[in-house]
Formats: sequence, structure tokens, C-alpha cells
Amino acid sequence: MGKPKVLVIYYSTYGHVKTIAQAEMRGLQKSGKVDVELYQFAETLPGEILEQMHAAPRDTSVPEITPEILEKADGFLVGFPTRFGVAPAQVKAFFDATGSLWSRGALLGKPMGLFFSTASQHGGQESTAFSFLPHLAHHGLMYVSLGTPSPYMFENDAIVGGSPWGAGVIAGSDGSLQPTYKEIEIAEIQGEKFAEITSKLLAPDRDLTQPPAAAATPSDNQQSGAATPLSTGSNKSKSNGRMRQFVDKFKNLFK
Ligand SMILES: Cc1cc2nc3c(=O)[nH]c(=O)nc-3n(C[C@H](O)[C@H](O)[C@H](O)COP(=O)(O)O)c2cc1C
Repeated sequence: MGKPKVLVIYYSTYGHVKTIAQAEMRGLQKSGKVDVELYQFAETLPGEILEQMHAAPRDTSVPEITPEILEKADGFLVGFPTRFGVAPAQVKAFFDATGSLWSRGALLGKPMGLFFSTASQHGGQESTAFSFLPHLAHHGLMYVSLGTPSPYMFENDAIVGGSPWGAGVIAGSDGSLQPTYKEIEIAEIQGEKFAEITSKLLAPDRDLTQPPAAAATPSDNQQSGAATPLSTGSNKSKSNGRMRQFVDKFKNLFK
């Protein structure tokens, strides 16, 4: 039986997030508990805009992530620089192409952690994470936070990126700050911790596309007369029916 497969997937215009992605990889590998692969999100900006932005040359040795590759993996560490306090369009464009995975529940129950870069200390590392969570919730992905496993995360007399939401780099407004050894160590810890959690959550042979055999269904509850705080009896049955119709209609879009 193989180990769970974790993908580290990043978008990086100037290289800061890429360096953190490589540190995440080292942490995952150090654990010895998961197999690891590195991917990047496809670029969506035109070449002339990237030139105006003085973007770093794209590293063509790192393959681009696709929904098909995503589906086959067991867990994900995903990193991106902030754009006005939220995720970049490149990442959003990829997730907007995962409707088919959603319709099949292909990512249901799989763990995902996040990491970041901002220009400034208060440029939005936390808002970038927080505003990305609906993507995880709608896919049924499990968000794995970082917590505060490193003493560097409590320093107030030095610039240190990262937070309980995930590792991070402060790049400087001109991008001239490089990831520090503290930021890199926090990312390595995140990788190691994520591998441990993933290996505990996912037995290698668990088929996440199948519901657990013993799970109670809404109709079980109706039969036994069990009530929720929000709805009871026939009202609940009606709303379940409406919800099912809506989901079926939406799923048909992807057939
Ligand atoms: C369009 C745009 C919007 C940005 N918005 C923010 C922002 O809201 N806060 C911030 O601190 N940095 C902001 N930045 C700076 C980037 O986050 C920074 O360049 C990035 O973290 C560097 O990471 P990278 O080298 O991996 O691309 C912005 C950059 C661009 C191009």
C-alpha cells in the first residue's frame, strides 16, 4: 500500500511563494509519511502585462496543476501571493474550472493547508486565507490551519511572515526582501505537521468518493422522527427535496 499523496501547488510572480513552496516540500518529505509532488498554477496574465510588472521568468520545470491531477491526490498545500488582500485571479481561475470535481464530490474530506506572501506586514496574509475558505467549504475540503508551532511566530521586534493561517513571507513593497530563515523554518514545520495530519486522516486505501457505509442519511432521521434545531418532520423533508433538485440541476451542467 502506498503513502498518501500530497501536492504542493503555488502561484508566484516574483519567486517568494515559490521559495516557501520548496520549504513546505522539505517539511513534507522530512516526515517520511507522504509522497509529495510540486505543481504551479497556470499563468493567466498576458506576456506584455507580466513584462510591465517585471515578473520573474516562469519556471517551466514545474508542471501546471490540472483538475485531473488534483482529483488523484489525497491532500494539498496551496500557496499564493495576495492581490488586494485576496487570492490572485490565477488561483481563482483554476478553482473556477473545478466544477466537475465539485459535482462528483471528488475532493470531499481531503485536507488542504494554505501559505502566502504579502508586500507588507499588514498587507493581508490573514484576509487572503480567510477569504479563500469558501472554496474549501464548497468542495468539502478540510482546512488544516497551522496554529503557532514556532517561537518565531511570537516575535514583535522583527519582520516575520506567517500566522496561524499558514506560513508566509513579507516580500517588501519592491519585492527586495527575501524569505528569512525564520519564515522558511515555519514553512518546513507546516509541511511536516500537514504530513502527520494527512497520514492520520487518510488510510492509503480509503476511497473518499464513497460515503461511509454506516453514515446516517436524512431519510434515516425522518424515519426515526429525529428533529434538528432548524426543521422537523415534513418541513425538513420538503427542504431536503428542494435542495436535492437544486443539486441535481447544477450537477447536470457538468455532464
Ligand atoms: C495587483 C497586485 C496587488 C497586490 N496587493 C497587495 C496587497 O493587498 N497587500 C500586500 O501586502 N501586497 C500586495 N501585493 C504585493 C504582492 O503580494 C507581492 O508582490 C507578493 O507577495 C510577492 O510574492 P511572489 O514573489 O511569490 O510573487 C500586490 C501585488 C500586485 C501585483
